[in-house]
Amino acid sequence: MNASISAPAQPAGYPHFHYRDGALCAEDVPLQLLADRLGTPLYVYSRAALRAAWESYRDAIGDRDVLVCYGMKANSNLAVLKEFARLGAGFDIVSGGELQRVLAVGADPARIVFSGVGKQAWEMRKALETDVKCFNVESEAELNLLSDVATSMGRTARVSLRVNPDVDAGTHPYISTGLKENKFGVAIADAPRVYQAAASLPGIAVTGVDCHIGSQITDVSPYLDALDKLLDLIDGLAAAGIHIEHLDLGGGLGIRYTDETPLRPAALLDQVYARLDARGLSHLKLIMEPGRSLVGNAGVLLTTVQFLKHAEARNFAIVDAAMNDLIRPTLYDAWHGVLPVHPRGGATQEYDVVGPVCESGDWLAKQRALAVERGDVLTIESTGAYGMVMAGNYNTRPRPAEVMVDGAQFHVIRQRETVEDLMRGESTLP
Ligand code: LLP
Repeated sequence: MNASISAPAQPAGYPHFHYRDGALCAEDVPLQLLADRLGTPLYVYSRAALRAAWESYRDAIGDRDVLVCYGMKANSNLAVLKEFARLGAGFDIVSGGELQRVLAVGADPARIVFSGVGKQAWEMRKALETDVKCFNVESEAELNLLSDVATSMGRTARVSLRVNPDVDAGTHPYISTGLKENKFGVAIADAPRVYQAAASLPGIAVTGVDCHIGSQITDVSPYLDALDKLLDLIDGLAAAGIHIEHLDLGGGLGIRYTDETPLRPAALLDQVYARLDARGLSHLKLIMEPGRSLVGNAGVLLTTVQFLKHAEARNFAIVDAAMNDLIRPTLYDAWHGVLPVHPRGGATQEYDVVGPVCESGDWLAKQRALAVERGDVLTIESTGAYGMVMAGNYNTRPRPAEVMVDGAQFHVIRQRETVEDLMRGESTLP
């Protein structure tokens, strides 16, 4: 994964990040200008790239009855949420906090599904008050609590069971969610019994079947394996008098980080509908919950080289971004491309790109061929998903600012945090 790889000549993913006259730009804005004006580390997103990602789903769907609920955990900045709400997206939320965010941008509750393995009573209450489309319930204990909460409010919760189909999505163990050793969902063998229980509980209306098999999936076969199992379940439930209206086929399409060939939404949907048609089930409403594939390639992280260090075993480019700003490399051994904003001619050297945090695990990229000098701005590619949302404050490092480029304009969509922000709410002992 970390073998020496030269920086690719052109950025990965969407064409909205591109070199123009030797300067890397987001749409029509040079990234150096953003670094100069707003400082680094800085997350930069392209509005056109967000829209292009959305359109790849919309075009694939055509006139089929598919609801795309953006898996907002991937990037929950209000500007990003508002953009998807305007485009007609629904939202997949996993907490009361995420619910508050989507309501703040005026999301339609009839397009919100509530997932997550540990929903608390207050979160259920908020979601019931909002009248979200569906709760994706992950255990019998959760089902019982939801029934109690809904009944106490005189409401009915529409419910899907998140079924664990035990398929291997062929992805990183930390982002695989549909295996029987994962904490998620109800085992498929138990699902008929739990559905019967759900159907008899007060305050619960069974409306769907849900699964989520993992993230960064590049092959269609795990989806089809899961689909076959879910369709068998739906047939069995119908025979038992439980009628399912929608099928939520979760599991996130992959994006291009290096040389992956992402599965396109159109390829996935065509094959899914071929199965649904073959089984006479194409009347089911389909829900999808993409996160990464809507935002991942639409963002980059800018960082400035502070020092170059030529140690005995390695060369290090010490930059001003760190594991607290982007944890994916050290957490998943994830590969993100590194591109200079202004490439220098001349010989490259092999560098580890590392941050200032006091951990050996604080690295962003390893063994990359780069021609860099102190003060150069580097771009860490494909960081629109699971970048800023997973950022933290270790070493009392304020989190980066975020900016959205729109053609030749740019808008700061989150101010850079300050140390005062970090200390707010703390107090010393009397
Ligand atoms: N819905 C549910 C219930 C999920 O658990 C997830 C992601 C999604 C939707 C969105 O999936 P996506 O389209 O993004 O694959 N932090 C990891 C990814 C964790 C994904 C967890 N669940 C990473 O940086 O790779």
